[in-house]
Amino acid sequence: MSSEKVQKLMQQMTIEEKIGQLIQLSADFFQDGQAVITGPMKASKLTLKTVYTVGSVLGISGASQVRKIQHDYLANSRLKIPLMFMADVVHGYQTIFPIPLALGASFNPETMKIASQVAAQESAAGGIHVTFAPMVDLVRDPRWGRVMESTGEDPYLNSVMAAASVRGFQGENLDNRHVAACVKHFAGYGAPEAGREYNTVDISEWRFREQYLPAYQAAIDAQALLVMTSFNTLFGVPATANQHLMRDILRKELKFDGVLISDWDAIAELINHSVAGDLQTAADLALKAGVDIDMMAFAYSKYLQKAASLDAKTAELIDESTQRILELKDQLGLFDDPYRGVSEVREHNEIKTSENLKAAQTAAEESVVLLKNQGHVLPLTNTTNVALIGPVADTGDLLGSWSWQGRTDETTTIREALTAQMPHLKYAMGSHYRAINLADMKNAINIARQQDVIVAVWGLPSSESGEATSLTDIKLPAEQLQLLHELAKLNKPIVSVIIAGRPLDLTEVTALSDAILFAWFPGSKGANAVSRILLGQVNPSGKLPMTFPRSVGQVPIYYNHYRTGRPITNTPEDAENKYQSKYIDELNSPLYPFGFGLSYAEIMIDSVKLAATTIATTDQLQVKVTLTNHSAVAGKTVIETYAHQNVAETVRPVESLIDFEKVSLNGNESKTFTLTIPCSRLANIHLDLSKQVDAGQYSLLVGLDSANLITVPFTLE
Ligand code: IFM
Repeated sequence: MSSEKVQKLMQQMTIEEKIGQLIQLSADFFQDGQAVITGPMKASKLTLKTVYTVGSVLGISGASQVRKIQHDYLANSRLKIPLMFMADVVHGYQTIFPIPLALGASFNPETMKIASQVAAQESAAGGIHVTFAPMVDLVRDPRWGRVMESTGEDPYLNSVMAAASVRGFQGENLDNRHVAACVKHFAGYGAPEAGREYNTVDISEWRFREQYLPAYQAAIDAQALLVMTSFNTLFGVPATANQHLMRDILRKELKFDGVLISDWDAIAELINHSVAGDLQTAADLALKAGVDIDMMAFAYSKYLQKAASLDAKTAELIDESTQRILELKDQLGLFDDPYRGVSEVREHNEIKTSENLKAAQTAAEESVVLLKNQGHVLPLTNTTNVALIGPVADTGDLLGSWSWQGRTDETTTIREALTAQMPHLKYAMGSHYRAINLADMKNAINIARQQDVIVAVWGLPSSESGEATSLTDIKLPAEQLQLLHELAKLNKPIVSVIIAGRPLDLTEVTALSDAILFAWFPGSKGANAVSRILLGQVNPSGKLPMTFPRSVGQVPIYYNHYRTGRPITNTPEDAENKYQSKYIDELNSPLYPFGFGLSYAEIMIDSVKLAATTIATTDQLQVKVTLTNHSAVAGKTVIETYAHQNVAETVRPVESLIDFEKVSLNGNESKTFTLTIPCSRLANIHLDLSKQVDAGQYSLLVGLDSANLITVPFTLE
């Protein structure tokens, strides 16, 4: 159906039918008890007639259910405009990949693309047309539970990952093995004050444009077809009613011409935010801001018809939104086949295939981060006498939040994966996540005493990360730390494996462990990835996409901070100088910096050379980086390239990532890599909010993490 046909269809539609397209309902309006509920449910009375005009449904999948709902709907709808099915398919459908923060840690856009591609292929087979992903909100506060759903704290890493994810979900031409991507949450949802979920966001537009906007822009440039509004306030106005954000920035500047959907009930929440006195005003504000679809606030269904009859402008806006939604349905091919080729046979053949599971395992292997490996305690050999301890060692709770179709009961546990390879392994749990039983603890210590190496799997359950899981304490639970202290008294090597969806304060764990493997929520095949890494069958190569603090008091802590007028100088004089930007009870530096991650190989940078140190602002930096692997083990690392502008109109971050490349080296190999980096990546936001690359002095900073960098000065002219 061409746009012309969409126009013809629109001519036949009543105002009620048009408004129907602008309404999204949870699936339990269509089928009892099957829907996944992802927001607060309110009592609402909709007539059956309204239900049979709505444009989209969220939170249901499965060939037979989707076919039945669509069939029923079409049978009862006058113009037979198919329903769109949307859901949160974030890091997998039934084959679950590592959480997005872990995919960020892969520093490998191809891994992200494949994860999104597989999620698209499986969910499309399950009847989903649109996924509420990728979430590209920049995050810097691990107290906020949704950091798990972002790719981290860096604008450039997030941008590259956002684009890769959109490409993976939508494919080249949005055929019926792909789904439309809905970028969220526009905008700034990742910066709630004090990390408290749904809290106020207050950042200047300058900072927003410098750091937060780039990833949304990258996703839109990659042709994402939908955008979701965020719950939060930005520049003093809730995003869902924010005309400057949605009309000036999203539509005009970013040239987004797709469908803008509210988050769940966000239109009604304009009343709580106190920018609307009633639901009718809330509906009016959202429509004026350009929100096409009302997800579960029932504002459009109750008030738009009356508003349209009183005001021609409202009717015009309804037309615009209807057209955008119908065009999306057309792009999805729904007018040609309302079922998009969905069948139980296809589901059976395309979901959780061995190929998809293998891809999920590779992604987990790419994203696990080795934080410490004192005395080369890792890798283990399969004859090592290991005591496997800890509350997360024998659970399938490895999938993480937003994996509603994943099956933790079918997920291999770390114990199962390791036992298959280590005949001498002995297991004892020792504690639950947040409870300790003295008999269990004694048993664990006893088992640990008999073995040579302790592998302890610590962490948090998946219910403690994701939406609405803000924490004020980001240490491991006290019970787990207590057991770790007891184990440390045995003076045996301790390998701590950590399963969590956010950076934690690992200060105590670091002091008490010889090795630390941070495995995030690694997904359906995560246990196999962890066991292969522990045994050296895979060399870890993940790097941190968020800074790990020494304590929660340092939060928010991120690598690309500004210098301040009184920076610490890292010289002995710091101790004498009281009037500096620092704590009196803690260092400024993090426990583990952004971009940090070890390997079993010993790869180091020998040299960094710039082809020319004076170049035009419109040109590209040509950088040659020579690395040597000083070990016999093959490995991967990430060449991380940062830049700093020495003097500018506004303050500049101490360093900003402008390029990264994951590279492989054989044992004892030296290799030179050539990086070509457009100078446009050095652009900064000026006081008039324009984005420009300045002539002047810069430093290029190259390293294998953000804290150990080789500096090369250069000039742009
Ligand atoms: O997509 C989500 C969003 O991220 C949070 N609120 C509910 C939406 C739909 O499930």
